[in-house]
Amino acid sequence: MANLTVNLCGVTLKNPVIPASGTFGFGREFDEIYDISVLGGVSTKGLTLEPRAGNPVPRIAERQGVILNAVGLQNPGVDEFLKNDLAWLKSKTRVVANVAGKTLEDYEGICAKLDGLVDFVELNISCPNVKSGGMAFGIRPESILEVTKAAKRNLKKTPLMVKLSPNVESIATNARAAQEGGADCISLINTLTGMAIDIERRRPIIANNTGGVSGAGVKPIAVRMVYEAAQAVEIPIVGMGGITCAEDAIEFMMAGATAVQVGTANFTDTLACPKIIEGLNDWCDRHGVKNVSELKGTLKLNGR
Ligand SMILES: Cc1cc2nc3c(=O)[nH]c(=O)nc-3n(C[C@H](O)[C@H](O)[C@H](O)COP(=O)(O)O)c2cc1C
Repeated sequence: MANLTVNLCGVTLKNPVIPASGTFGFGREFDEIYDISVLGGVSTKGLTLEPRAGNPVPRIAERQGVILNAVGLQNPGVDEFLKNDLAWLKSKTRVVANVAGKTLEDYEGICAKLDGLVDFVELNISCPNVKSGGMAFGIRPESILEVTKAAKRNLKKTPLMVKLSPNVESIATNARAAQEGGADCISLINTLTGMAIDIERRRPIIANNTGGVSGAGVKPIAVRMVYEAAQAVEIPIVGMGGITCAEDAIEFMMAGATAVQVGTANFTDTLACPKIIEGLNDWCDRHGVKNVSELKGTLKLNGR
């Protein structure tokens, strides 16, 4: 049995596998299928100060190896989460509260409400599927710096994870901006903006016209971006994008990730996360790796 525990910003996770925001709700439905206390943590659906109904349907389109989504941050609001879900989820595993806002004040307010109550606050500054805010903060390094500082001012106890968008010019520059703003760690990637067309109707399938692309097909892009971010910052990285099996998770760790998140794979196989945890253990055993954390950043580039 390999030691799968990892230390993320001083918080011990029993393993590095965390279901990604928006693909796992608050964990209750999955807990009916397996005991979610086997997970390293859970990243919640993106929380906003006020409840949100989300975008009109259709919100999801399937394509080869990927899906597109434009859910539009449907959620019950942070207060309902605190009242109904937090204590239960905390009794199971580490809680990563994924949050979104339209203004700096939204981000400040939501962080203040969650400080000290959750294990991490994950700042979604990169949601491509809402009309205002979200994405706007996640593109330019100056605004990443500003929103990270604002969140950090309101988090005295809980570590701050800043989630980066891949729809940018330089992931390294943006990772450095998050670090400079006081992020304790960063997570990436969020979805890539895409479009899928119903050729009979000559219209986009998704009501929002564009959606965020995720799933197995985005993995090489995500691995490259995690590698570039890892070269640019000293703070830990949580890698995601297209992970479906333990070997995928290992790629991200070799590229520099301390932990990983698993998103779309939860839709294709509800048991994806526990299978990845088991697979990590097997792979480590077969390769004589005693601690999974030894894998981090062990990639060597060709020709060097
Ligand atoms: C249906 C759906 C909803 C999502 N909602 C959120 C969200 O609320 N907040 C967020 O930060 N990311 C959200 N994401 C992005 C995922 O957390 C993840 O970054 C992305 O899907 C890439 O990982 P994957 O390829 O393993 O799915 C969502 C993704 C999907 C597919």
